[in-house]
Amino acid sequence: IKVQEYRPQPFTDFTKEENVKAYQEALAKVRSELVGKHYPLIIDGQRVDTAEKIESRNPCNTDEVVGTTAKATIQDAENALQGAWKAFESWKKWDMDARARILLKAAAILKRRRMEACALMSIEVGKNYAEADVEVAEAIDFLEYYARSAMKYAGFGSSETTWFEGEENGLMSIPLGVGVSISPWNFPCAIFIGMAVAPVVVGNCVIVKPAEDAGLIAGFMMDIMLEAGLPAGVIQFLPGVGKEVGEYLTTHAKTRFITFTGSRAVGLHINEVAAKVQPGQKWIKRVVMELGGKDALIVDETADIETAVTAAAQGAFGFNGQKCSAMSRLIVVDSVYDDVVGQFVERARSLKMGTGEENAPVTAVVNQMSFDKIKSYLELAPSEGQVLLGGEAPGECGGQPGYYIAPTIVGDVQRDARMAQEEIFGPVVTVLRAKDWQDALDIANSTEYGLTGGVISNSRERLEQAREEFEVGNLYFNRKITGAIVGVQPFGGYNMSGTDSKAGGPDYLANFMQLKTVTERW
Ligand code: NAD
Ligand code: ALA
Repeated sequence: IKVQEYRPQPFTDFTKEENVKAYQEALAKVRSELVGKHYPLIIDGQRVDTAEKIESRNPCNTDEVVGTTAKATIQDAENALQGAWKAFESWKKWDMDARARILLKAAAILKRRRMEACALMSIEVGKNYAEADVEVAEAIDFLEYYARSAMKYAGFGSSETTWFEGEENGLMSIPLGVGVSISPWNFPCAIFIGMAVAPVVVGNCVIVKPAEDAGLIAGFMMDIMLEAGLPAGVIQFLPGVGKEVGEYLTTHAKTRFITFTGSRAVGLHINEVAAKVQPGQKWIKRVVMELGGKDALIVDETADIETAVTAAAQGAFGFNGQKCSAMSRLIVVDSVYDDVVGQFVERARSLKMGTGEENAPVTAVVNQMSFDKIKSYLELAPSEGQVLLGGEAPGECGGQPGYYIAPTIVGDVQRDARMAQEEIFGPVVTVLRAKDWQDALDIANSTEYGLTGGVISNSRERLEQAREEFEVGNLYFNRKITGAIVGVQPFGGYNMSGTDSKAGGPDYLANFMQLKTVTERW
């Protein structure tokens, strides 16, 4: 296969009027062509409809149903699994180049339809222009990057072994079989497609179960995969309810691997049920988990305050804090606390709420459950700290009903408080005062999570200490802690944040392969 070296997609510059205009045209196109659309299941290449449907609502205007997907039954899940094993028999024999070409073609189609995918997410999950654009860029990057990564596993002896006289020895990387890929709503394009194509490009087949709140963008991406030439049964599209079909598939004896991105609670539950061997099961299920975070940014007394405030505001309020990587704890050393926190509050105060379609900096959170959960933390806030900004959940904006939560900052929270330990997943920041640098680092490491973290400091010594001692999978210095780029910042956390499998990293595809050593005596 002939390809250029991988380069991440550049982002769209929305300070340019022509790009804003193009986005608005895409919104109009999506409203006329995709809003109101219904996406059935896709099993063995056939569109299969169901009696019940899942409605996808616009979080910024809850009166609006954006579209629907089918709602898979247990029988559909069983059919999808059986069909995927049939498809696996031929797919596993495909040449690596040929499989990779499907991903490259899908990337090319998505590049052409980039603004449409963005606009659909503005309406379906309330992303503003830049947030949607960065996500679609990431989806293209996953396709391009995994296509190239697959090459390294092509052919016998692709991994290094030591020469031994009189024998040929080599490692073969072989696919695992059929797995289940269960994705969240917060990166419903990039994570959905990355988790689908990574196993597939190295010869596995998968059943993809998108999140209930974002089935349309998943259906849109499936159409692109089919247009790119994906054979029937290789990716089985199974929108449905996690607790029903998700549970059925993760416990099933014929499921070989599970790749899951979502909350800690659901992830740990899946890990537990997947560990139980079912009658007729002949393998230990491989489980790849990307879970939540309680991500911290430390600011010390040597920091540039403007850099700190910008990093904090971007990390906390991008997509309303609904990122696993979001800065949900700001830890500031006492001597600069008032200055840093004061400026951060003023920066956040300037963020206006509105819809994704209006390109508002802060939009509505995704659904009623999230809204209620975040509201319960707003109610808790006065007893755990000082509410410096926000604290309200208006539930409407500009007369439109939606899951709106005001950007909220709560100061002087203690390290063991619930607001300092639990993932809130909304535009709510917990601020903690540290005695000094060492205390700040201890506070940062005081949760069970370990996903992203950052330090704003001009002390080389402290940055080097953090490099070794800050317990996170993705660590950033003197910048925001969100926005990992495929291939540039392989992404994933450890401790309760996941299995540290590093999506968009050089070894990610190995999660979906097993190795066989073959020796021939000459
Ligand atoms: P969630 O755990 O509620 O749902 C994730 C998926 O699991 C959905 O598709 C859901 O239908 C399915 N599901 C629910 N119950 C299930 C069950 N019993 N069996 C099988 N599947 C089931 O998470 P969410 O609200 O969609 O996403 C937000 C969470 O995801 C946050 O905690 C966030 O931090 C995390 N996240 C992590 C990463 C990462 O890379 N570490 C990235 C994005 C999101
Ligand atoms: N990969 C996403 C980020 O880094 C979650 O923000």
